[in-house]
Amino acid sequence: MAMITIENLKYKYPGTDRLALDGISLSIEKGEFIGIIGQNGAGKSTLCQAMIGLVPQFYHGAYGGAVRVKERLAEQVPVQELCEDVGLIFQNPFNQLSGARDTVYGEVAYGLQNLGIEREEMKSRIERVLKQLDIWQYRDRNPFDLSGGQMQRVAIASILVMQPEVMILDEPTSQLDPEGTEEVFRVVDQLSRTGKTIIMVEQKLEKMAKYCDRLILMQDGKVVDFDTPEKIFARDDLNEMGIQPPAFVRISKQCGLSNQDGTYPVTLESTIALFEQQSDKENLTQKLKPEVKQTVQTQRTKELFQMEDISFSYQKHIPVLEHLNLSLDQRTTAIIGQNGAGKTTLVRLLKGLLKPVSGTVYFGGEDISKKTVAMLAGKVGYVFQNPDDQIFKYNVLDEVMFGPLNIGMTQEEAKEKVRKALEMMGLSGKEKENPYDLEMYERKMVAIASVVAMDTDVVILDEPTIAQDYPGKKRIGDMIASLAEKGKLVIAILHDMDFVAESFERVIVMAHGAILADGTSKEVFAQDTILKEARLQKPYMTQLMERFAGK
Ligand SMILES: Nc1ncnc2c1ncn2[C@@H]1O[C@H](COP(=O)(O)OP(=O)(O)OP(=O)(O)O)[C@@H](O)[C@H]1O
Ligand SMILES: [Mg+2]
Repeated sequence: MAMITIENLKYKYPGTDRLALDGISLSIEKGEFIGIIGQNGAGKSTLCQAMIGLVPQFYHGAYGGAVRVKERLAEQVPVQELCEDVGLIFQNPFNQLSGARDTVYGEVAYGLQNLGIEREEMKSRIERVLKQLDIWQYRDRNPFDLSGGQMQRVAIASILVMQPEVMILDEPTSQLDPEGTEEVFRVVDQLSRTGKTIIMVEQKLEKMAKYCDRLILMQDGKVVDFDTPEKIFARDDLNEMGIQPPAFVRISKQCGLSNQDGTYPVTLESTIALFEQQSDKENLTQKLKPEVKQTVQTQRTKELFQMEDISFSYQKHIPVLEHLNLSLDQRTTAIIGQNGAGKTTLVRLLKGLLKPVSGTVYFGGEDISKKTVAMLAGKVGYVFQNPDDQIFKYNVLDEVMFGPLNIGMTQEEAKEKVRKALEMMGLSGKEKENPYDLEMYERKMVAIASVVAMDTDVVILDEPTIAQDYPGKKRIGDMIASLAEKGKLVIAILHDMDFVAESFERVIVMAHGAILADGTSKEVFAQDTILKEARLQKPYMTQLMERFAGK
């Protein structure tokens, strides 16, 4: 039975002259797990909004064609009514939270209360979902006093709990730790097996390949292809569409291996199986050169930050960091670890945005506890996890100019730095746009550019790759390398392990407010027990090499 049918859907946002959706026709069956992939700006989120009627009911604009959900026209049935059948998880979890309830439990119960479900049933559903997403222990907390990843889990829970027939998830795992990501995929995969229809947008293509039945490949508002992951990832024009095929496809291609039908294996297991069938395994393993580029080697001598015996808590009796010691030199440093580990808290202490409850933070040998954020502003730049917490001006140019002028640069100097920063982040030509009208991935780039333009000695990036496609990630990787080359210290918090392995000299693993490991990516990713405790997974290449080595 077709759950969703779309016929020649065309749509243009008000005030624009480009079709955001351009002649889309497709049909999705009940119980399918469908992925939507495509580069930033391809129209993925707009298509999601059209399947729940927000396009055109909320966004207005020019609309043509038809979207039917269970035979009902999405354009005509009021969104509130459609929501009984269709749940949408927004790209930015912050937009999902109603703000009407002041506990996690209340927030997740909020939508359920309108569905007329029995009390006992409600209670058991909420408990199950909160436990599934590992936020049961935060049920009495204010949803806005959570880490980014915890908040994203609440947003997912608030839709999961309603058990809609169709679930649309727009990059639901962008801020989740690797194990949390796998869990969300597992949970919705399980739901699709019980007859729920799942539609998910994600940049994590290895996971999409592993779990989705079919993938919708979008570009420029059009559906270019709609097929199985194997078929989609065997296309030879993906690079032109800003898509990097899953690691396993790239590796198989590199070794000249393919399935009988000419496709490539898209998962770890199928790659191993294919390699096992080959007679000259030895030879093939030789060919498996890691495609890792050489990270910039910086000098280790200059110690910039020192944290001595730092403890911190937001609320009394709930310690977040306890007796933490860390020193940071000029090596580009990635901080990884479970959601709620204390990563954001740690970097905010470095930036002086938070003050430790006890212990001392030194910067360049000086105790910064007596210094204000303003005094440090010219030295330490910090890009917020959620760009909306950072952006406050009404056009991109003013936003990016603010920092440089604020730290005392002349107009001339600031203009030049801003021009370079905008160019580096791919924002040239967007100077006059209102950041609030931009997509999430562009707002993140604006937030990064406004820090890069300040030309500080230290640049701290809190989850810079959120919502970025492959070209965007590459741009950020290049930016990090170029800052490191100039002798700046770059510290970044990340959940993308392959990106970490490619771009950072030093990797710090955090869990439960403590540092569990510290070393090169090779050293860190060899420590299985620690990775497990910090809810991490290894880079795909490492996973494959270990399986070949018989581990
Ligand atoms: N404003 C706040 N008020 C109270 N507790 C908070 C607040 N912000 C964060 N916390 C708590 O402090 C702990 C550490 O949060 P932090 O944001 O540093 O984690 P994180 O490692 O950055 O996680 P994520 O990967 O989800 O971003 C978490 O348990 C979180 O719930
Ligand atoms: Mg964080």
